[in-house]
Amino acid sequence: MSDRLHTLSGYLYEYQKSVSQPEEFWARIADSFFWRKRWNKTLEWNFEKPDVKWFAGGKLNITENIFERQLFTHADQAAIIWEPNDPNEETRTLTYRELYEEVNRFSNALKSKGIQKGDRVIIYMPMVPEAAVAMLACARIGAIHSVVFAGFSASALADRIIDCKAKAVLTSDGNFRGAKKIPVKAVVDEALEKASVESVIVYQRTNQEVTMKEGRDFWWHEVVANESTENKAEEMDSEDMLFILYTSGSTGKPKGVVHTTGGYMVYTKYSFENVFQYSPGDVYWCTADIGWITGHSYIVYGPLLAGATTLMFEGVPTFPDAGRFWQVVEKHQVNQFYTAPTAIRALQAYGTEPIEGNDLSSLKVLGSVGEPINEEAWHWYHTHVGKGKCPIVDTWWQTETGGIMVSPLAGITPTKPAYATLPLPGIQLTIVDADGKELTGNGVEGNLCIKFPWPSMIRTTYGDHERCKQTYFSTYKGMYFTGDGVKRDHDGYYRILGRVDDVINVSGHRMGTAEVENAINEHPLVIESAVVGYPHEVKGQGIYAYVICDMKNRTEENLVAEIKDTVSKIIGPIAKPDKIQIVPGLPKTRSGKIMRRILRKVAEGITENMGDTSTLLDPEVVEKIIEGRK
Ligand code: WTA
Repeated sequence: MSDRLHTLSGYLYEYQKSVSQPEEFWARIADSFFWRKRWNKTLEWNFEKPDVKWFAGGKLNITENIFERQLFTHADQAAIIWEPNDPNEETRTLTYRELYEEVNRFSNALKSKGIQKGDRVIIYMPMVPEAAVAMLACARIGAIHSVVFAGFSASALADRIIDCKAKAVLTSDGNFRGAKKIPVKAVVDEALEKASVESVIVYQRTNQEVTMKEGRDFWWHEVVANESTENKAEEMDSEDMLFILYTSGSTGKPKGVVHTTGGYMVYTKYSFENVFQYSPGDVYWCTADIGWITGHSYIVYGPLLAGATTLMFEGVPTFPDAGRFWQVVEKHQVNQFYTAPTAIRALQAYGTEPIEGNDLSSLKVLGSVGEPINEEAWHWYHTHVGKGKCPIVDTWWQTETGGIMVSPLAGITPTKPAYATLPLPGIQLTIVDADGKELTGNGVEGNLCIKFPWPSMIRTTYGDHERCKQTYFSTYKGMYFTGDGVKRDHDGYYRILGRVDDVINVSGHRMGTAEVENAINEHPLVIESAVVGYPHEVKGQGIYAYVICDMKNRTEENLVAEIKDTVSKIIGPIAKPDKIQIVPGLPKTRSGKIMRRILRKVAEGITENMGDTSTLLDPEVVEKIIEGRK
């Protein structure tokens, strides 16, 4: 059964209902799922603590809602189509029945390794169907998965293993990415020198040589070899944890965002069907990696709960050439295509030639996610990829929101370039000024908050509830604060303006400035550093680092290269600063606070009108920084 909306008036009507009677609204949607026991209370909430419970007392397993439910109607329909990195390698297709059997076999294998309900399992894998199998098998036996993007370093991986006290790591020997073959197991080995787990299961993908530790490391194909394709799903409570996903914030180390079972299930399916207007038989493709929330909600859970065919792509947009995305669209007759503005801008740079010659007529809907899409990229996407006939759904949401919050419903909501347009049913947005005063009416700009719970919202930050409270629920009393700036225009449409905190968004990946600074400071010659974002043509934002160092006998060039390496080692290549400027000092106030406003301006290329610098301890330092600008 589908809860798809079909018209603008239908959307407006449902939206009103979702606000006036939220519990009735969500109970009706939730009733179309399979619950072993129906819930007692639809919603209990308190944003002060915060404490939010959806469908309390309900018993279910999310994978039963994917498999046992779909097997009646489309057991032989493709669940996952996998497109490998190398176009000459064979595509793999898993039907719902085949995926079900793989999940069951792997569920049994996990159990035989002693993994039980409530245990944490780290998934550090490339984009192969087994990564989805791994997630679903955890969900089936009630283990809590935490997927770590396979581009993160050993040190970042170790931190996450330690933070969630993981019992096992699921990984692969290596990873094909474009022309490169990347070691994966070797990174896990390095992480496990610092952190420890009981078992490691290794999927063979690249056949490269790896070391296997006796008694701890096992091959995937061996552990599943004799397992049954039947498995009785564990009974979970609505509010049992489904997964932890680490994400960067404005302070310190990444935090583990916790999502629970019932609400996440209801919201990801509902939002998937409505935003993308998925119809049975369509092929849907989201280009994200499963290491990010987009991969969780809109490659795996949302589409599979909706009985969709979801395409999983192992490679990169420019391998073997910049036409790869469009070749894949033609090859698999993709109907809905969902990617990030950074990919669009990167491909835009190659012109339209790589698009031409590919038949893109199957496309019905184009999606965008992860960062604000600039008007130029929007038009390019619309004209050259969508041939002017595919609505663009610019979807605003976050790791913490679990699902899409603000977006057009494809073909229903009139779009406007660079606008995420209107909230989904159930999402009560508000804009507040710096003092927390709600700005009513249209034509206003401020900070984006959400004032009523929605089913897939963050419940806590793993092992540190206080941090969840401080980060999201304390800035403005009684509201969830998103960290984003927003404008509501005269039509009541929302345009996301970007982060207002110390989070930068590099190629759609979230990075905390403090996190990058901490990594830079690990270099033995670094005395102090300050990191800011600056506008970058392709990445949206680039990372600009101002660093005070003891030069010893290094050249600036050497030192800059070493610092980049250090960051790569500590976080991963995605956090490498684009520009590093060695400075004699930082603009600090007399109380020792760095005036980032000035650093942001210089990084942006603005060298005049620095505003009031009279409170600086040493105003001359600003001149020196401007002179040495990169
Ligand atoms: C940004 C990704 C503008 C925003 C799903 C948010 C966007 C952060 C959009 C969350 C969009 C995401 N328009 N900005 N359509 N989508 N963002 O947790 O700043 O990786 O707070 O989740 O990305 O990033 P995250």
